[in-house]
Amino acid sequence: EKEKLTLAIESSCDETSAAVLRGGREILSNIISTQIPVHQRFGGVVPEIASRKHIVNIMPVIDEALSEAGVKLQEIDQVAVTYGPGLVGALLVGVSAAKALAFSLGVPLIGVNHLEGHIFANFLASPELAPPFVALVVSGGHTALVRVDDYNHFRMLGQTRDDAAGEAFDKVARVLGLPYPGGPQIDKLAAEGRPVIDFPRALEEKGNYEFSFSGLKSAVLNYINSERMKGHELAKADIAASFQASVVEVLVHKAFEAVAAAGLSTLVLAGGVAANSGLEARLREEAARRRVQFYFPDRILCTDNAAMIGCRGYYQAQAGEVSDLYLNAVPGLGL
Ligand code: KG4
Ligand code: ZN
Repeated sequence: EKEKLTLAIESSCDETSAAVLRGGREILSNIISTQIPVHQRFGGVVPEIASRKHIVNIMPVIDEALSEAGVKLQEIDQVAVTYGPGLVGALLVGVSAAKALAFSLGVPLIGVNHLEGHIFANFLASPELAPPFVALVVSGGHTALVRVDDYNHFRMLGQTRDDAAGEAFDKVARVLGLPYPGGPQIDKLAAEGRPVIDFPRALEEKGNYEFSFSGLKSAVLNYINSERMKGHELAKADIAASFQASVVEVLVHKAFEAVAAAGLSTLVLAGGVAANSGLEARLREEAARRRVQFYFPDRILCTDNAAMIGCRGYYQAQAGEVSDLYLNAVPGLGL
């Protein structure tokens, strides 16, 4: 049997993306049209604007993905699409396009969970990677430790009780006067500072795989306000470095504890915050010390993209997990 061609679509937040994969792991194209400049002046994603931009972008992005892959639409064997979690209006654009394409081509439609997609970006980045492993998923909307037993069985070990890690990065950046999205800005600034301010690290007790970042966020805001009241000039780089160190230490600590408790020896990193250089460096260091195999995706596969959705969709379809044409967007979809 020839390797299946999957057309994948992602539109859950502020990136319109389409990709073509041959088999489960070969990327023929992965086109990403970002709306970041559009939302920047509002300091965050405006859902209604995001939906409208997706509508304008979706067909050109799909056309470009097909032409870059050198594949005709009629050659596509299956269509995978993110149906949640995400912004409902944004998700609906991708889901509607995918349904129309799958229906008109007469091929299977595969609804994909965005968070699972982030984890599967690692299969694209590392051909030798195979389950079982523990995944640390850190994005703008989610922070979770997931046990991946095989390609289609996942168990949530723990997630955030309040803010996601990326959300905390974005909020702290905002009060420091940095543009959206704040994560990459804090990352850059942190490299110039020292982690000298002692910000809290939440829920560090053994065996707890939940996260909480709202206390840390408040501590940073309080510190900034009190410095301003005292008329001090803000040591922005030190604040960024101290905040990042606090987030990173909690993530690293819990991730390796989860790997050890699961009796596994592989950790994979996933989601937009995986692009953080401080996090990657600390995980790499700790992995070497503990003799744990550590995987993380290339930067372009860390943040939202359709290739990761195609990879997840491929393995779902192999297990017969396909959707029907009643597929709907599920904004609060869990793992
Ligand atoms: O996975 P993603 O692209 O979208 C969601 O599914 O949420 O993640 C976006 C998040 C944003 O909060 C952004 O600030 C954060 O990832 N991010 C980073 C970095 N690059 C992106 N956070 C910290 N350091 C970075 N280098
Ligand atoms: Zn994402």
